[in-house]
Amino acid sequence: MDTLEPGDPTTLAEDLASRFAAEHGRQATGVFTAPGRVNLIGEHVDYNGGLCLPMALPHATYAAVAPRDDDTVTVSSRQEDDGFSGRLGDLGPDTITGWPSYAAGVVWAMREAGWQLPGMDVMIDSRVPLGAGLSSSAALECAVALGAAALAEVDLDDEVRSGLVRACMRAESEVAGAPTGGLDQTIALFGQAEAALLLDCRDWSTRQVPWDPASADLALLVVDTRASHSLSDGGYASRRADCERAAAELGVELLRDVPAADQAGALAGLADEQVRRRVRHVFTEIDRVTEAVAQLEAGDFEALGRTFLASHASLRDDYEVSCEELDVSVDTAVGAGALGARMTGGGFGGSAIALVPTDAVDAVGGAVTAAYAERGWPAPGLLTATPGAGARRLR
Ligand code: GLA
Repeated sequence: MDTLEPGDPTTLAEDLASRFAAEHGRQATGVFTAPGRVNLIGEHVDYNGGLCLPMALPHATYAAVAPRDDDTVTVSSRQEDDGFSGRLGDLGPDTITGWPSYAAGVVWAMREAGWQLPGMDVMIDSRVPLGAGLSSSAALECAVALGAAALAEVDLDDEVRSGLVRACMRAESEVAGAPTGGLDQTIALFGQAEAALLLDCRDWSTRQVPWDPASADLALLVVDTRASHSLSDGGYASRRADCERAAAELGVELLRDVPAADQAGALAGLADEQVRRRVRHVFTEIDRVTEAVAQLEAGDFEALGRTFLASHASLRDDYEVSCEELDVSVDTAVGAGALGARMTGGGFGGSAIALVPTDAVDAVGGAVTAAYAERGWPAPGLLTATPGAGARRLR
């Protein structure tokens, strides 16, 4: 099977530190890492104050960082030819474009939030597949944020981490132009190995939920459709705008605030049919997260598989953020023995996840690859996802 290796964090950090020293002629102050993620369930509900259940991946982004004695910020990446160089005071939504928006944009957003940051050199390496819906953007933002925080010599308690989540969200929304909802940055900065994170996006409280499908001889297979996926091209923002319009019409701040008993009436009262379907997804998806957590805690993976499928159907039909490649991945995986499958992340391409008996992983991966070949599509990327650690300093 074509697997994407996360690599060994210590080795990757050492390698990046020596490249940094070779390029900049001095040692990095430190190397910082933040993970990609899969969201097990709870999709397109974060910006509605809902519940999500993401899990950090061992695939992570690395940032080597050192202060400069002038006020210049430079960022470079082992994966990209172009980089960025600009003065601290000039950083802003209009002066940073392309991938550096997610790196230099964070330095801008942290300064906006009152952080005293020096000029700095930042060098990036990443093992999170890019554009695969596995949150390479948040991994980049959060690795840079940790590095910048270290240069300001601030210790990372939960409150500081929450502030960094907000700065990263601001960079993504205002500099990169993707008005995303905080799920990805929160799991990157608060995730822990061997657990999924139940995240309540109304008050941003979190609870670790054991995630150990291997104990039931199951694996989580990630299928990267390699279909184009961008959260800054309008589809994501328009879904979010529909939700905000509906909340205003219903007289609540967030769709989560509509009590269960009032939801049927609220749906019936919405004038626009499309908006009604969007809201129905949000209401039902939040309930599915609660169900999924109970199913996980009871070890009932068969039921969890069915919940995954219901989530996918809702995202496909009501929220309309799936695509043919995702639907084929889900249907084929289930046809080949998966207990359940669904798209994960923002959609419009990106990745699907499937809950698969360990001894059927190769068969399911093979079936999906064959289904793609039959349609003349490029082969999907496949990986089995084990829970990884959250963002941290490596050296
Ligand atoms: C993207 C966004 C998140 C979230 C998901 C959908 O990953 O970055 O904030 O909205 O889509 O659940």
